[in-house]
Amino acid sequence: MSSIKKIKNIRNLKRKIVCLTAYSKPLAKILDKYCDIILMGDSVATAFYGMKNTREIKLDTMINHAISVRKSIKKSLLVFDMPFNTYRNIKEAKKNVKKVLLKTNCDAIKLESNGKNFKILKTLTNSGIKVMGHIGYTPQYKKNFSPQGLKHNEEIKLINEAKNIEDAGAFAIVLECVNVDLAKKITKNLQIPTIGIGSSKYCDGQILVLDDLIGLSGFYPKFVKKYISLEKILNKVIKKFRNDVIKNNFPKISNTY
Ligand code: KIV
Repeated sequence: MSSIKKIKNIRNLKRKIVCLTAYSKPLAKILDKYCDIILMGDSVATAFYGMKNTREIKLDTMINHAISVRKSIKKSLLVFDMPFNTYRNIKEAKKNVKKVLLKTNCDAIKLESNGKNFKILKTLTNSGIKVMGHIGYTPQYKKNFSPQGLKHNEEIKLINEAKNIEDAGAFAIVLECVNVDLAKKITKNLQIPTIGIGSSKYCDGQILVLDDLIGLSGFYPKFVKKYISLEKILNKVIKKFRNDVIKNNFPKISNTY
């Protein structure tokens, strides 16, 4: 069964879809053993480059990271997150997606929904490209972080948005910071799987930004479970190195030629 088919049929497999982001070959190598989907996310802008928001990252920079990530993926699905202003109309989307597929050999792309770009998504899926949707808090289009779908009118809008994305041919959809009951409702309403980030256990799968989960990003909203603080561990290690260098304990003879 191809990975896309497996993702689509995940409800029959009766287990959740496991997804994380990766921006480099060494980390993708570890993730590939445990994840169904690895997302080369535009969160690289904030988590890796320290940019103010994800709108600043350039397509070519993301492509370089995806080339690195691709090198160690053997079994997971590699999804490339199309960055801001690269799919504003059909012509632009086709040109940039073609470039991404050619250069990175990714399996699918992800488009953030702005509530209107369903036709662009449909054009891409009609030409055989695998597309993942993304609704709720969509950082490319929403300036301030806030939970989504708390008001009735927002709820209706998100339900329709999800359905439009499914009808446009997406194979899965990310729900970001969508209220619990609404995430449950949307998941029930759709045939394609939902992948939640801050959107409850009722989604068909979960995604987190790896750098948040390992405690390296410095950004830990309540939907993040920080499994380890690599920052703390690295602080200890680098401090030891510093002491070794200062005290002339490194390098030893065994470290020399
Ligand atoms: O860029 C990213 O990492 C994402 C996930 C948070 C879904 O879009």
